[in-house]
Amino acid sequence: MTDQTLHQGARPGVDERGAPAIEFSEVRKHYGERSVVDGLSFEVRRGECFGLLGPNGAGKTTTLKMLLGITSPDSGAIRLVGEPVPARARHARERVGVVPQFDNLDPDFTVRENLVVFGRYFGLTGARMDALVPSLLEFARLESKADARVGELSGGMKRRLTLARALVNDPDVLVMDEPTTGLDPQARHLIWERLRSLLARGKTILLTTHFMEEAERLCDRVCVIEEGRKIAEGRPHDLVESVIGSDVIEIYGPDPQALAAELAPLVERMEVSGETLFCYVDDPQPVHARVKGRAGVRYLHRPANLEDVFLRLTGREMVD
Ligand SMILES: Nc1ncnc2c1ncn2[C@@H]1O[C@H](COP(=O)(O)OP(=O)(O)O)[C@@H](O)[C@H]1O
Ligand SMILES: [Mg+2]
Repeated sequence: MTDQTLHQGARPGVDERGAPAIEFSEVRKHYGERSVVDGLSFEVRRGECFGLLGPNGAGKTTTLKMLLGITSPDSGAIRLVGEPVPARARHARERVGVVPQFDNLDPDFTVRENLVVFGRYFGLTGARMDALVPSLLEFARLESKADARVGELSGGMKRRLTLARALVNDPDVLVMDEPTTGLDPQARHLIWERLRSLLARGKTILLTTHFMEEAERLCDRVCVIEEGRKIAEGRPHDLVESVIGSDVIEIYGPDPQALAAELAPLVERMEVSGETLFCYVDDPQPVHARVKGRAGVRYLHRPANLEDVFLRLTGREMVD
């Protein structure tokens, strides 16, 4: 498990024709009265990075738990690496690595011990693990921390150790629940780089996130869910183009409502959030001409992105 593939050549690519790595078909799950996953269907192809996006409480973790056979669906069909789940979940999981939402490393053990103990679950012998651990540590950029206790690691290091641990069985598919939540930007970028190196080796990745930048950078395709239902699916770029368009002009000023009324004829769609007016335009020039140099008004012109899509579909207002 060296990094040689990382900087060499293109990704092996997504297998469009073979059997999917993951299949979800009309899956439903209730907790008490509450419908948490509501007829969800999606497929992840082999070699693909697929993002399951949604606000807190959307049903992302429940979806992953059903995929891994930890929780049973009420109805619907699930396949993981071709195996029906939950019936053959144990068998399927031999070819799957998991990064749970909350790290469950053993804080009293060292970094190395955490890897070795985990290897035992997969029946890997001490000699096999002795051979494997250095490459896992190298992958996780934790070579110098092999004998440090987990309790002494930073959040980013713990996340990388959990990722290294998920690779112990050399899985074909990686399932990750919010792999970078709570990390600082440097730590997050390092995780992204490590995930890209896994994709370069042909691994399939299913991840959940509420960071749209993460999804846009890593994912070949995304599925946006809300209250357990799919509300959009596609390639990030295609979703941006179809849901938002090409350009966004954010205008900050004292009276966004008055500006909105004035600019309405010049824009395809607009939205006021707090003191900001969002203008979604195909041609930004007429709006520029109106607001340029106006006293008390600042504006930012930028390409539309996946965050615009997410906020459009799930609402700009905070839901708690
Ligand atoms: N074991 C459980 N019992 C009851 N309700 C649950 C359980 N697990 C999750 N929920 C509820 O299901 C909804 C979806 O949760 P979850 O799948 O964790 O969402 P997400 O990961 O997208 O934040 C939430 O409202 C949550 O409170
Ligand atoms: Mg979750």
